[in-house]
Amino acid sequence: MSHDRLADLSRRLPELRLLTAPADLEHYGRDWTRRWTPAPLAIALPVSVEEVQAIVRWANEQAVAIVPSGGRTGLSGGAVAANGELVLSLERMQRVLGFDAVDRTLTVQAGMILQHVHDAARQHGLIYPVDFAARGSCSIGGNIATNAGGIRVIRYGNTREWIAGLKVVAGNGELLELNRGLVKNSSGYDFRQLLVGSEGTLGIVVEATLKLTDPPPPSQVMLLALPDMDALMQVFALFRARLELQAFEFFTDHALRHVLAHGAQRAIDGDHPYYVVTEFDAADERQQEAALAVFEQALEQGWVSDGVIAQSEAQAAALWRLREGITESLAPRRPYKNDIAVRVGAVPAFLHEMQALLARKYPRAEVIWFGHIGDGNLHINVLRPDDLAEAAFIEQCEHVTHLLADTLQRHGGSISAEHGIGLVKRAYLDSTRDAAEIALMRGVRKVFDPRGILNPGKLFADD
Ligand code: FAD
Ligand code: MLT
Ligand code: ZN
Repeated sequence: MSHDRLADLSRRLPELRLLTAPADLEHYGRDWTRRWTPAPLAIALPVSVEEVQAIVRWANEQAVAIVPSGGRTGLSGGAVAANGELVLSLERMQRVLGFDAVDRTLTVQAGMILQHVHDAARQHGLIYPVDFAARGSCSIGGNIATNAGGIRVIRYGNTREWIAGLKVVAGNGELLELNRGLVKNSSGYDFRQLLVGSEGTLGIVVEATLKLTDPPPPSQVMLLALPDMDALMQVFALFRARLELQAFEFFTDHALRHVLAHGAQRAIDGDHPYYVVTEFDAADERQQEAALAVFEQALEQGWVSDGVIAQSEAQAAALWRLREGITESLAPRRPYKNDIAVRVGAVPAFLHEMQALLARKYPRAEVIWFGHIGDGNLHINVLRPDDLAEAAFIEQCEHVTHLLADTLQRHGGSISAEHGIGLVKRAYLDSTRDAAEIALMRGVRKVFDPRGILNPGKLFADD
């Protein structure tokens, strides 16, 4: 049956590259979650918008599900193909299509790797400011589909802010040109923004026109050690009020231990429960002195126990590695990930409540906190104890995620801040969106993808 289907697709599109070797199915069928066994039908590697449209039309006729696939660095299972789906990888669509110096936009194919987008923007003396550790592997299409955040949101916002236009192949195969790079466009619903964060369930992003901006002024990077969470919030308020922050990221001593074991260099001696890596404008002496003054004030208040300022680009990179290396250092342990958001002001109360809950429910598990504290976005990773079976561990984690979802509901937060719902959090969507909203979301999906062929089972549990 599957052989006949693929033969039909090949007859229809003789030029299309299709992969079916077991190693390819394995490689393209999973993302960074590594929790599901890959089992795609095949991998399609189109090179043009027309090919993507033809594949989507064929999939509608044959009732074959499609999993849109970028760099598969996703952490929510959104790009997982475990049920005989056709993986539609954008990896052969990586060209820059145009740069507009007046509009300051860059138009690219959606498979382009984020780092290459950064490089292309720099060639024009500008930057594309969305940035995070997966930059070398994730694609701009995947970033758009997840509304990716990262380490510069505090300054520049999420991916959503940087999209001037999109070309999208909808679930019915139609090509949509959304917003066409316009700055102003008050002509009805903004489908461009609807597509951002839609996790491949409404359409396949094939091209994007990205806004660019001026590079930030020269900056300094500082690592701070802190005694407790309340101090962390005080330091954040102080630094935000007095400095021009580019980033303000936190992690715990547990996280640090894993990064150090993974080859990073310790930068502050002693044991401290919390750390912050912060980057701020330091273009001139005045700004550098202001940074020292706020650091000293935080020290005097007892909010900071120790700190270092990078004296070179290499040192700045070493400090950043302590934060950015966490995901990779934990990956071999396949952590159970939570990626939650609350209002920044609600962080301390939420954290205290969650820490007490987790200590009660996971007395033996290692719980690792880190994240984008300045955005109210906390990553809570749980590591399986060696003597607990995987299935029992997941069951326990899911039970705790229900409690987490309840706590979030009370604090008005979200079960996913930036990774997306995917497979991992689909059972908890209703903790973040109410029934009326979910009904509308399903209705929208029906309009864009009437036969439900795009990423079924992602986002909605009973798709
Ligand atoms: P994939 O994993 O391939 O796909 C993700 C989702 O997008 C899937 O649902 C997929 O179906 C859909 N999709 C992919 N391409 C398209 C397309 N062209 N059209 C429609 N749908 C599509 N995320 C953050 O937000 N902030 C971080 O700080 C961050 N740090 C990370 C650090 C590391 C080390 C790693 C491994 C991941 C990190 N992530 C982070 C998560 C991940 O990198 C992002 O979610 C990223 O946006 C995924 O891009 P991708 O190309 O790998 O997408
Ligand atoms: C991060 O902030 O490092 C990422 O979102 C990745 C993760 O949560 O592991
Ligand atoms: Zn993150």
